[in-house]
Amino acid sequence: MEKQVIITVLLLSVCAWQAHAVVNCTATGAGRFADPADATCQNYTLCIFNAATATYVSYNYVCPTTSLFSPTLSQCTSTYTCPNTTNVAPTVPAATCTADGFVADPASTDCSTYIQCVLINGVYSQTQLTCPTGTFYNPTTTLCDPNYVCGFTCTTAGRFPNTADTTCQSYYYCVLLATGLFTQVNYTCPTTSVFSPLTSVCTTTYTCPTAAAPIG
Ligand SMILES: *[C@@H]1O[C@H](CO)[C@@H](O)[C@H](O)[C@H]1NC(C)=O
Ligand SMILES: *[C@@H]1O[C@H](CO)[C@@H](O)[C@H](O)[C@H]1NC(C)=O
Ligand SMILES: *[C@@H]1O[C@H](CO)[C@@H](O)[C@H](O)[C@H]1NC(C)=O
Ligand SMILES: *[C@@H]1O[C@H](CO)[C@@H](O)[C@H](O)[C@H]1NC(C)=O
Repeated sequence: MEKQVIITVLLLSVCAWQAHAVVNCTATGAGRFADPADATCQNYTLCIFNAATATYVSYNYVCPTTSLFSPTLSQCTSTYTCPNTTNVAPTVPAATCTADGFVADPASTDCSTYIQCVLINGVYSQTQLTCPTGTFYNPTTTLCDPNYVCGFTCTTAGRFPNTADTTCQSYYYCVLLATGLFTQVNYTCPTTSVFSPLTSVCTTTYTCPTAAAPIG
């Protein structure tokens, strides 16, 4: 009896919410995807490909109360920790998303976080997600991968520090091409200067953190 009521309520909420599907299944493909508008990590969308109509059908679900939706495992799990998006959201630059799907987080130099992009009413909802410990976001496969060697990938135009360089002398220059892709060039600052991540230029006034704290 109680079970029946729960099922009815669930079906009603699923049907009611289906009209406002938040995940673009055409962009994500078949599978389960987190609702980026839900900062509590409880809602997700199931995308199913209908071969007869060659379109996707989407169903929205809410995880059982004791669990949260893990975007990396693509399922509700009691082991997932919901990222504090109120805290991390301001670190996502406004124009990171250009299409539905997943992109590298330009603020993450260690590939530990990535961004989920969903177009809602003409505006991209950008949610920063965190890879499970020991895995790194691979922009080619768009998955958190334990074997991925975190390098630098241009996601916005400009100059960015090469964080692997402890001397602070090298940096990446990203140029957006007419094709929508980025060309990425490694540059090294003139000998007397270092690359300042604060001003994004080679300067003699910036002190490289590692070089400034020699051991011994
Ligand atoms: C969904 O994604 C597809 C492929 O990226 C795109 O062509 C389409 O315009 C998107 N639809 C909406 C409603 O954003
Ligand atoms: C999650 O889904 C429930 C049920 O459809 C809905 O009432 C709620 O508003 C959703 N939460 C968010 C943050 O979108
Ligand atoms: C999330 O971050 C905000 C801002 O830093 C903080 O006020 C809030 O307490 C945090 N919430 C949790 C659950 O950690
Ligand atoms: C630029 O630096 C990256 C990371 O260190 C390296 O993988 C790549 O080969 C370099 N490219 C050039 C042209 O030096």
